[in-house]
Amino acid sequence: MSVFKVNAIKSLKAEFSVPGDKSMSHRAAIIAGISNGECVIRNFLPSEDCLNTLKAMGSLGVAYTILEEMENFGPTMLRIQGKKMRLSQPPLPIDCGNSGTGMRLLAGLLAAQAFDSELYGDESLSSRPMARITVPLSQMGANIECRGEKKGCAPLLIHGTKLHAITYEMPVASAQVKSAVLLAGLFCEGKTTVVQPAETRDHTERMLAAFGVRTHREGNAITLRGGQIPEARDFRVPGDISSAAFWIVAAAALPGSRLLIQDVGLNESRTAIIGVLLRMGAKIHDMIHTKEDGEPIGNIEICGNGLTGTVIRPDEVPNLIDEIPVIAVAAALAEGTTVIRNARELRVKETDRIATVVENLRRMGAEVQEFEDGMEITGGKPLHGAVLQSYGDHRIAMAFAIAGLFATGETVIENTDCVNTSYPGFEKHLAAIMREKTDPSAYKLKTLTHEESWD
Ligand code: S3P
Repeated sequence: MSVFKVNAIKSLKAEFSVPGDKSMSHRAAIIAGISNGECVIRNFLPSEDCLNTLKAMGSLGVAYTILEEMENFGPTMLRIQGKKMRLSQPPLPIDCGNSGTGMRLLAGLLAAQAFDSELYGDESLSSRPMARITVPLSQMGANIECRGEKKGCAPLLIHGTKLHAITYEMPVASAQVKSAVLLAGLFCEGKTTVVQPAETRDHTERMLAAFGVRTHREGNAITLRGGQIPEARDFRVPGDISSAAFWIVAAAALPGSRLLIQDVGLNESRTAIIGVLLRMGAKIHDMIHTKEDGEPIGNIEICGNGLTGTVIRPDEVPNLIDEIPVIAVAAALAEGTTVIRNARELRVKETDRIATVVENLRRMGAEVQEFEDGMEITGGKPLHGAVLQSYGDHRIAMAFAIAGLFATGETVIENTDCVNTSYPGFEKHLAAIMREKTDPSAYKLKTLTHEESWD
């Protein structure tokens, strides 16, 4: 089992890109796989989560060829031959690994097929709530058995059948639920509508539109008419802002730093972290803001300035839900108090992220109060190195690696293989930032020279 050993850094002057977006890579594998022809997907994220979804599509009869790879990890460029909505029965149960997105989106797709299938996952995924998708899918006529030891949990036994369109008002703001229902809706006659209680990431709608599927949005209601077949096309996945977030926080909290993250996704349903850090006093600007394949993309420049506490607004929570562990670290490094509430969803992520963040922050000497739906962090107390658990949660491992860059002494994070579920290469980036050395061949990481640097 690997560990991270992290020491404090004095400066951070770098320029690099992060691997492809996780949410979009799952969707690219699925939507290209049901499209009507050949699609080349570029900058696919070769993380365990996305590779499981890709393999799942393979076991449903979708052929793909690997065109480029990230050494030691997996494909970054693929040619996928779409099956024109006609998937075939998988020979074996499908392993979704650690991925809630993979399992929930695939469940929507599989519920509407003319065959039975089974989805299972690791221990963490087997304890996460699946009723949030089986309830709306059952309303569409789906027949899904939750076979887990825990009620309403995976493995999911899906008896594929013909579904009918519905209008569904989601009780939780979840892009995974919205996407599962919309993907199922593609196979129904008539109009399927999903109403969100708050805005959630809209990659499914955008990617469907890029593949020629018309969706209609009115306020927070998204409608699509079934029977539309995605038209094959190429798609380039932007860098993942949720992966960039770790370095953005590190640079923002370190006075004198300068960081440029290139080619990162800047979809407005994902960039609330930037607004929060700006409120906390960070100096951030995004540049070369363009649109590629329906998704905004650009560069972000961060100049370290020191931070002050803030209050996270309820409407921001779904937009930055995955960034909360590292925002909590930023809060511990900031002067004053930061309040994170209305974030009960964190309790059903890869770990109970309220409990795991609070535990690790306290171990490093931070002052934190835990609530059922969040936490309040009084920042400014110096952090000290500690031996921490990742609890097998990739974002906990990475968030506390960032905390370690600001702590006195050594921080050891145990059980860090999990970072490969979303950020292959994180460890190399971390090592390069601790060394401030260039490793352009593998990761395009470039440390700025003094002349190029901000000051
Ligand atoms: C995701 C949606 C979010 C997020 C997850 C990825 C997606 O989950 O936490 O990491 O790709 O749709 P919810 O939609 O369940 O909030």
